[in-house]
Amino acid sequence: MKILPPGSTIGIFGGGQLARMTALAAARLGYKTHIYAQAPDEPACQIAACRTLGAFDDMDKISQFAERVDIATLEWENVPVAAVAGLEKHIPCCPKSSILHVTQNRLLEKGFAREQGLATPEFHAVRSPDDLRQAVERLGLPVILKTTRLGYDGKGQAAIREEKDIEKAWKSLKTGEAIAEAFVPFQKEVSVIVARRADGQMRAFPPVENRHQRGILDETHVPAAIPDAVRDQAIHMATTLCEKLEAVGLLAVEMFVVEGQILMNELAPRPHNSGHWSIDGAATSQFEQLVRAICGLPLGDTRPLFPCIMKNLIGDAARDWQDYLNMPGAHLHLYGKKDARPGRKMGHVTIRNRREEMES
Ligand SMILES: Nc1ncnc2c1ncn2[C@@H]1O[C@H](COP(=O)(O)OP(=O)(O)O)[C@@H](O)[C@H]1O
Ligand SMILES: [Mg+2]
Repeated sequence: MKILPPGSTIGIFGGGQLARMTALAAARLGYKTHIYAQAPDEPACQIAACRTLGAFDDMDKISQFAERVDIATLEWENVPVAAVAGLEKHIPCCPKSSILHVTQNRLLEKGFAREQGLATPEFHAVRSPDDLRQAVERLGLPVILKTTRLGYDGKGQAAIREEKDIEKAWKSLKTGEAIAEAFVPFQKEVSVIVARRADGQMRAFPPVENRHQRGILDETHVPAAIPDAVRDQAIHMATTLCEKLEAVGLLAVEMFVVEGQILMNELAPRPHNSGHWSIDGAATSQFEQLVRAICGLPLGDTRPLFPCIMKNLIGDAARDWQDYLNMPGAHLHLYGKKDARPGRKMGHVTIRNRREEMES
């Protein structure tokens, strides 16, 4: 395995908060970062050594970027596969384009998990209203219909509660290909982030519990309050997927816990919002772990230092920043975004959960 020493330059596709926090972690270990972004005021551009501004389909710009970095990674799994394949002609990209091919499509993603013998919600591919009618018949109501590509924060989804919703749901997605999923009456949503190096060494962060508001992650509770057997299932699922995908870097796996069983919901081959707690709450953050994994360094300790809650500061919620600075045990992170639009992730705060500490 090739080791990329401190002093090398890591290229990052995307200029948002995930790239920003990766660049900060890289800097701490003595690496330079070069951001490929669309605009100079994006969160990561504000703090990185170098940047290339360009679109994700501008192959000339991507080649120029590749010449100036030693390795590349990304913060957005929807970077076009062709762009990453173009980059790979010059330098390695973690994750590689073949992984993006799978994780950019919800049907391929869930199909891949099934091929590995892992459980997912029941699902069917849907390419017409007739397909959808058949899928609803087979799955039973309620059904969640999702675009196969480019959905995030609950966007590109429609719930079907009654048969009369079918036509409207199909039209609302404005797509030619969707996935119809059985609605899972889950007890909890959890996620596991695994790091893997090129030589196959892996290390997982513990499962955490994710609570959503209007389709957007609101809070992550660390560690997830689940029985040991469920925790082991969750870690087994995440490490199996990471290994079988031959991912180098990070793989985040979102899962449902239902009646003591784990079902795979979604994959992200990059740092994940549910791992932000690790900056303040673990010896090694997910961002540092990503740098360690792709550069072939020893993987760090992932154990939580204390129970904690990560709260996203979405839209106007970031206006309360002074309150968090005044709160003992709270660690505030702001991403440097100008407009606090509704639904926009402006920052997060990790709060030490002293009540849990006393109880355990
Ligand atoms: N099959 C399902 N059954 C029940 N709830 C679901 C199902 N699929 C998604 N959800 C809910 O919707 C949220 C967003 O869906 P997800 O598939 O994770 O898409 P994304 O995060 O990309 O928007 C999930 O975190 C979960 O709360
Ligand atoms: Mg999700």
